[in-house]
Amino acid sequence: MIRDLILQESKRQSEVINLIASENFVSKEVKSALGSDLTNKYAEGYPGARYYGGLNVIDALETEVINLAEKLFSTDYHVNVQAYSGSIANLAVYFSVLKHGDTFMGLELSDGGHLTHGHPVTVSGKLFNRIAYRVDEKTNLLNYEEIKRLATEHRPKLIISGASSYSRKIDFEKISEIAHEVGALHLADISHISGLIATGLHPSPFGNADFVMTTTHKILRGPRGALIFCKNELAKQLDKAVFPGLQGGPHMNAIAAIGVCLEEALEPSYEQYCRNVIENAKLLSQELMNLGLKLVTDGTDNHLFLIDLRPLGITGQVAQDKLERVKIIVNKNAIPYDTSPPQNPSGIRIGTCAITTKNISQNEIANLAKKINDTLRG
Ligand SMILES: Cc1ncc(COP(=O)(O)O)c(C=O)c1O
Repeated sequence: MIRDLILQESKRQSEVINLIASENFVSKEVKSALGSDLTNKYAEGYPGARYYGGLNVIDALETEVINLAEKLFSTDYHVNVQAYSGSIANLAVYFSVLKHGDTFMGLELSDGGHLTHGHPVTVSGKLFNRIAYRVDEKTNLLNYEEIKRLATEHRPKLIISGASSYSRKIDFEKISEIAHEVGALHLADISHISGLIATGLHPSPFGNADFVMTTTHKILRGPRGALIFCKNELAKQLDKAVFPGLQGGPHMNAIAAIGVCLEEALEPSYEQYCRNVIENAKLLSQELMNLGLKLVTDGTDNHLFLIDLRPLGITGQVAQDKLERVKIIVNKNAIPYDTSPPQNPSGIRIGTCAITTKNISQNEIANLAKKINDTLRG
């Protein structure tokens, strides 16, 4: 029964056009690592300091994955590869430097931030005092002066940068500077754009930010998981926050699969893939604007953009459903200063990581834009 459902989902994935900005298609090798015998092994602890026997190979493997992560991002930061997901990884960073009730700053959800950046419904919003910063109401761009003003007023212990639906470049260096001026640490959550940073297509937070976190299953084309990097003086407390603070045994099959995706991302072809992702996002956004659709920030610098549906008089849920009927899969998404509820916001988010993995052509993108436009208006 489950086997049938897995096959059904594979079929569904092969029959639709996937425009979900946070999804991708992993290679056979990544899948094979995920389904390997590594899933049988318990490995609480870290290489050289474990709580189980039989771990010689596992220690070598985790050490190699750490080395690959440092190589891909050209960094000598400490790396923890064990977090089960991006949410846990962010929580581990908070847990390593914040106490219950401490203040930190993060981008508002509707302006592109992630739930784990302190939204009140999450543990990050319940345990800590989150001050939300917002994008500029007119331009929908990050307003670094405003971030500085809020940081000076509230004196947070940590500022988190990065986003789930922000289509323009982020000045990580500036945010590090603001954080350090007020005595805060800076966590750059690069989950959405880590591939662009690794390949030099987006400015890097490494060298300035105190922590850098990325999920491994979006543009990196790996399994579900996360990498947490930190400056070496923060390494001990970070590792303790992951294990035993938040997790038990690491998922060694997922860590092996992360290693495989890092090896793949170190191939020269990955840089070309990332260039194509941006080019495709620019082309698709331009075609949609040419057809009269309104995009938040009027375009994109990265792999994603948001369509503001208000001029069409339809909601995000309606748009998502209409597109799904013609086999185009997107997600409804809040737009900055959205007055509609999160269950039925005023936008949809579109990303090009998955279609670029499937080698979509420029002609197909022009047709896709037309189909999206006709469907939304139809
Ligand atoms: C910026 C950002 N951080 C963290 C996460 C959380 O990752 P996960 O879904 O693996 O818990 C996401 C996921 O969408 C994200 O976009």
